[in-house]
This record gives sequence, structure tokens and C-alpha cells, in this order.
Amino acid sequence: MKEQLEALRAQAMEELASLRSPKELEDFRVRYMGKKGSVTGLLRGMGALPAEERPIMGQMVNQLRQELEDAVTEKSDSLQAQLQKEQLAKEKLDVTMPGKKDAAGGLHPLNVVLEDIIDIFQSMGFDIIDGPEVETDYYCFQALNVPEDHPARDMQDTFYLTDSLLLRTQTSAAQARTMETTKPPIRVICPGRVYRADEVDATHSPVFHQIEGLVVDKGVTMCDLKGVLEQFAHEIYGEDTRVRFRPSFFPFTEPSVEVDVSCSACGGKGCRVCKGAGWIEILGAGMVHPRVLEMGGIDPEVYSGFAFGIGLDRLTTTRYKISDIRLLFENDLRMLEQFDR
Ligand code: PHE
Repeated sequence: MKEQLEALRAQAMEELASLRSPKELEDFRVRYMGKKGSVTGLLRGMGALPAEERPIMGQMVNQLRQELEDAVTEKSDSLQAQLQKEQLAKEKLDVTMPGKKDAAGGLHPLNVVLEDIIDIFQSMGFDIIDGPEVETDYYCFQALNVPEDHPARDMQDTFYLTDSLLLRTQTSAAQARTMETTKPPIRVICPGRVYRADEVDATHSPVFHQIEGLVVDKGVTMCDLKGVLEQFAHEIYGEDTRVRFRPSFFPFTEPSVEVDVSCSACGGKGCRVCKGAGWIEILGAGMVHPRVLEMGGIDPEVYSGFAFGIGLDRLTTTRYKISDIRLLFENDLRMLEQFDR
């Protein structure tokens, strides 16, 4: 039995040395020290020995068992260390590799142009204000001298929510509100969404954007209006762009003008962008009507002012040669990704 024990020890030690993984080590442990393992078998077989040999043999087997257990623990530690070393080698980082760039969102083209516009007016000393999109009939029309029977109030043009509440059709509503709450000198712009019951096509959308401007002070004249708007057009479209003022009509300004710039796509010769005209209309403007000042609580004998309403969507589509206004609202990433900045 002693030889048998020695042979088993030799075999076990040899096997142990060749093990490569924790799984193999566990199998090894079960094979030798498990319930049906070889060492356990030896202990069981002791019953067959003469009584005087049993204690000695028992001691030897137990010693072997202890030895094997220690060897297994040691092997387990060295396997773990080995595995960890291999893993670390595999996960080694090359810190000199170029980084991966996360795709960041970009500004919507309307916002790119709006930011430019805001910069221009801010540099001229204008404040930026906000107004409600759900407006009262009073601020959107009455306070702006729009008569009861004006076609803009027709159900076809205006989305009415109730008899007196509507979705604002023009940011000019913010003019009326500002005059009521602010004492001159006033110099503000109010960018925002406006709504009209228009059929959707390449140049019309029921939702679009305006930037309202209002200046009220003592001695403000048409020259100030022309100077500010010409400066604005040159900053947006470039120094070479020609600017033209055409007489027009708005109920809340007198006199009223519409402002065109020479088409940036063809330089004024006529092309698809300007529909052959050579000019692109970018805004409506005028000297604030004395009645409107009065309704806003400002004395028209003392103060005068001018107002303007810029069409943001038109400015954006012509700047980027976008052929269809609907592209601005569909949010197709293939289109938006071209305007990242
Ligand atoms: N609100 C006018 C429009 O929507 C534009 C405008 C604003 C005209 C301010 C004059 C003064 O057409």
C-alpha cells in the first residue's frame, strides 16, 4: 500500500504541473480528492488493512491529502496570476492611437441664420425679446391698426383657437406688447414662429419664422430705418449686394416699404432662386403708425419709430440655395448634416 501511495503522489504531482486552466485544476481536484477520488478511495480501502497498520497508513494518506490540497491552492494562485497577466497584455492600450470622434449634433440651418441675424442686431444695440405664439386678437391685429374687415383676419389666413385667441400670424404682435410695457428709447428684435392657414408647397408652410424689429425714440426717421436695414442686408449678404426699398402697405406702418436684395445666386441677372427677377424680397418695414404708438401708450407727438419684419425662412433658403421650404421642416438628417457648424 505504501508503494501505491508513492506512485499516486508522483502521478498527481506530474499531472498537476501540466494543468493549464482553472477548469482542468478543478477536474484534477475532484479526480483525487472528491467523494469518488483516488485519495478518498485509499482512505476507504484502509478497512482491509491489519488493525496495527491502520493508524500509520491513515496518517500517511492524510499527509498526502494535505500535500495535494496545498499544491492545488498554490497552482490555483499561479494560474490566476498567469491569466491576469495574459488579460492585461491583451487589453493593452495604445495611447498614441488617434481618438474616436463622437458624432455631435449641429445647428439647424434656420438657427445658423438666426444666430447671425441676432449678432448683427445685438452689435447695433438691440435687445432680444420673446412673445407668445398663442396670441390675443388684440395684440395680433387690433393694437396694430388692422381693421375688422382686413383679409388677414379671414378664417382662411388665421388659425383661430377661440373668438379672441389665435396662433399669431406675425411677430408684429410683440411690437404692440413691447410698447405697452417699455418706455422709449426702445430697440428690440423678437424672433419666433408664426402661423398662417396656407397650403403647403415649395414656398409656403403653415408654420414659418419672422424676426420683428422695433425702434422708438425721439427724432427717429426713415433715414434711420434705411440705414439700419441696409447695414443689416450688407452684413448678411455681403457688401456688394444691392438693396432696394419699394413702397408698400401695412396697416401698422406709414409709410411702408418692402426691402429687396439683389439675388446672391445670379448677382441680379435672374435665375431659378429669384424666379428670374434678379431680386429677393427679405422683409417688410415702415415708420410706426401714429395710431399704433398711441394705442401702445406712446405719445406720437413726442416719439417716432420704425418697425420691420424679416422672413427667416426665405433668408435661409436663398442663402443655402435650398429649393423647397419643406426641407427646413422635415428634419431629414441627410439634409441637416450638411449644415453642421
Ligand atoms: N408683419 C408684417 C408681415 O408679416 C411685416 C412687417 C413687420 C411690416 C413690421 C412692417 C413692419 O408681413
